[in-house]
Amino acid sequence: MSRKYYITTPIYYVNDKPHIGHAYTTVAADVLARWHRHRGDEVFFLTGTDEHGAKVAESAVEAGQEPQEFVNEVAKLFRIAWKNLNIKYDNFIRTTSPEHHRAVGVFINKLKASNSIYEDKYEGLYCVGCEKFITEKELVEGKCPVHNKKPKKIKEKNYFFKLTDYIEQVKELIVSGKMKILPEERKKEVLGLFEQGMEDFSVSREKVKWGIPLPFDKKQNIYVWVEALQNYISGIGYGEPSEKFSKWWPADCHIMAKDILKFHAIYWPALLLAVGEPLPKEQFIHGFFTIDGKKMSKSLGNVINPNDLVNQYGSDATRYLLLSQFPFGQDGDVKKSLFDEKYNSDLANGLGNLVSRTANLMEKNDVGIDTAQQPISNDKVDIINKQIEHYRFDEALKGIYGIISQANKYLDEQAPWKHTPDDKEKTTIVLQNVSDWIKTIAELIYPFMPITSRRISQQFAGPSVKKEDGLFPRLSDK
Ligand code: MSP
Repeated sequence: MSRKYYITTPIYYVNDKPHIGHAYTTVAADVLARWHRHRGDEVFFLTGTDEHGAKVAESAVEAGQEPQEFVNEVAKLFRIAWKNLNIKYDNFIRTTSPEHHRAVGVFINKLKASNSIYEDKYEGLYCVGCEKFITEKELVEGKCPVHNKKPKKIKEKNYFFKLTDYIEQVKELIVSGKMKILPEERKKEVLGLFEQGMEDFSVSREKVKWGIPLPFDKKQNIYVWVEALQNYISGIGYGEPSEKFSKWWPADCHIMAKDILKFHAIYWPALLLAVGEPLPKEQFIHGFFTIDGKKMSKSLGNVINPNDLVNQYGSDATRYLLLSQFPFGQDGDVKKSLFDEKYNSDLANGLGNLVSRTANLMEKNDVGIDTAQQPISNDKVDIINKQIEHYRFDEALKGIYGIISQANKYLDEQAPWKHTPDDKEKTTIVLQNVSDWIKTIAELIYPFMPITSRRISQQFAGPSVKKEDGLFPRLSDK
């Protein structure tokens, strides 16, 4: 049955250009969006950029640019990276856009009207890198453990959100599974956060000048996280006089990594409850990865630019390589050396070789596709589809690779290249069997490798199959 499916990625900070951490989440969301579209669901896929706040403003100063000019440039880099990776989003929301501005105004006024905002003083610590208030307890040797920097001491007037009024309700919704937090370990992690106790949080900042003013006190700007979370509704027309918002909200899935779990699993639902909007149905929190065992960072010089991967391997292979390295829900290590190895084994020697030698043999022996034959459907295909639907991308890709290997093995065993003209009937059967598998593989890889999928489907469509350029040239041949 077809249904609507609304999926989002986090909106990425534009303090720096995109890296493969951002690409990892965005490719995963694109795979799900494509998988749902392909099975007939009506899909809305939202991504975008988080452009306000102290961190971005500081980066603009370092770059010697006006903030707006700076964010325009970096936001463009994200769009380019997503184009190179063949990401098919339905909207790219920027928090400096008028539609976001308008929606945030409507939301904040509703929040005020719900009596869940009050004025107070904030005195404490703030980590600009995390864009969050931080407690003494969280510090390691006086520094933020994530950014290894001393937080700023702040004393200012803030408006606060009465999180404590909604906390029991949020907890109950998570415990009961009405709002799913996946995988199970992350649900446990969130429930653990409730045990540590939770305080009201600021919705505005007095001293951060790069942001959206609070409608009822223009001397304050809305706290960047509160504003950023609203991209999930501003990106689908919240506050506009149209049906668009009610058509898509609530989100079917928010995808992110564990670094921003608390904001999404606790703060965001509480804000939505306060204004009376339904909560996202599901949130999937994937793992964080390191590069060759080390945290990815500018100072270590090990940051991987997704465009470099696309230049080297092409967009489809890059998508495959990113999602096949380790299970999506777990932390993992990305090994640069594995990229070449896996490209050659799975794609060049695996899929590429299967397709090229089958097409060659079909052309040579004048064997075409039996168009009356339905594509193969069996348990393996069903299992792989279930795995994709449930975020088990690496398992799905392993399953697909299994089918590729099986088809290659069958071809080796049957060795149709050894057949004589008298074996024509046998040759036809063997090659049509393999081409059936190839068509099934083309279907299954579609969400991961859309270009390759289409090329194969077109090549293996009619009464005559022609050989074409190789799909994945071996790296040494390039
Ligand atoms: N702007 C906020 C999000 C606001 S959403 C309402 C933000 N931006 S971010 O640029 O820091 O992006 C964080 C996200 O990027 C992570 O949650 C994850 O999706 C992705 N990743 C960044 N580095 C990553 C890794 N090293 N590994 C896996 N994912 C990574 O937080």
